[in-house]
Amino acid sequence: MRHLIGINDLSSAEIDELIAVALDIIDNPKKYSEKCRGKKLATLFFEPSTRTRLSFEAAMYELGGNVLGFSEANSSSAAKGESVADTAKMISCYADIIAMRHPKEGAPLVASMNASIPVVNAGDGGHNHPTQTLADLLTIKRKKGRFDNLTVGFCGDLKFGRTVHSLIEALSRYTGIKLVLISPEELKLPDYIKNDVIKKHGMDYIETNDLVEAMPNLDILYMTRVQKERFFNEEDYLRLKDSYILTPSKLTNAKDDLCIMHPLPRVNEISVSVDNDPRACYFVQALNGKYMRMALILKLLGIE
Ligand code: NCD
Repeated sequence: MRHLIGINDLSSAEIDELIAVALDIIDNPKKYSEKCRGKKLATLFFEPSTRTRLSFEAAMYELGGNVLGFSEANSSSAAKGESVADTAKMISCYADIIAMRHPKEGAPLVASMNASIPVVNAGDGGHNHPTQTLADLLTIKRKKGRFDNLTVGFCGDLKFGRTVHSLIEALSRYTGIKLVLISPEELKLPDYIKNDVIKKHGMDYIETNDLVEAMPNLDILYMTRVQKERFFNEEDYLRLKDSYILTPSKLTNAKDDLCIMHPLPRVNEISVSVDNDPRACYFVQALNGKYMRMALILKLLGIE
């Protein structure tokens, strides 16, 4: 039985295979519409979500399966004090696969150690978000056609942004990747990722706080929301929340084939006036998430 807790639970060959299946789903949706008949996905969301939960659910419905679950901790027995381990054991009796989001880092790992069905981490605190990374990789593949030799700018909350952590981990397996880490001092990428991922794999990287200066070199600009829910005090959040706001004028010196990504939700960090720029990829990125989650569900359920 396989789980997806961190992106490194998948080999590069398996990521390629998931992308191939997702692309086939896009071309031949009917072929997949009965594949999960009789199967149930449980979405256990202890933290708010729109895209991740609903795209998991849409993915299962489009595969002909069913969905059960909860979308806030207060409506589950967690509110009565039930442990994640017990919840995972219980849900294993009711469903065939679990997607879990939790504010505590490591909670989906604990669930996977106690469940008798596959568990997918749908975001754990400020740690990892591997299925967003699958959406991101399909977006890069469709827009750029490759994963090698790309200059990728990550901008905003690199400290708490779990999507950033997981995508950097995924990119570390490709060659010729240059990372441009753009953030205020207080929201820099954590040392553990710099040491255990970037330096360990000898990745090329620079850190800066200047988005406009970095812009001309970028093939991909990955904007992020300042993660309000992870701050210990409101004052710091208010001071940092608008550190970067991408506007059309800041794109003046950007490449014509820049790919602007954002895991969403967006607050202020991308002006809506950027949405019609052909380089804006963030809404198609959300759609790609559904296809990759379909491919992942098939893989973890062992369905051809
Ligand atoms: C992200 C998350 O939950 O980490 N959202 C998502 O899943 N698409 C990013 C965010 O909340 O800022």
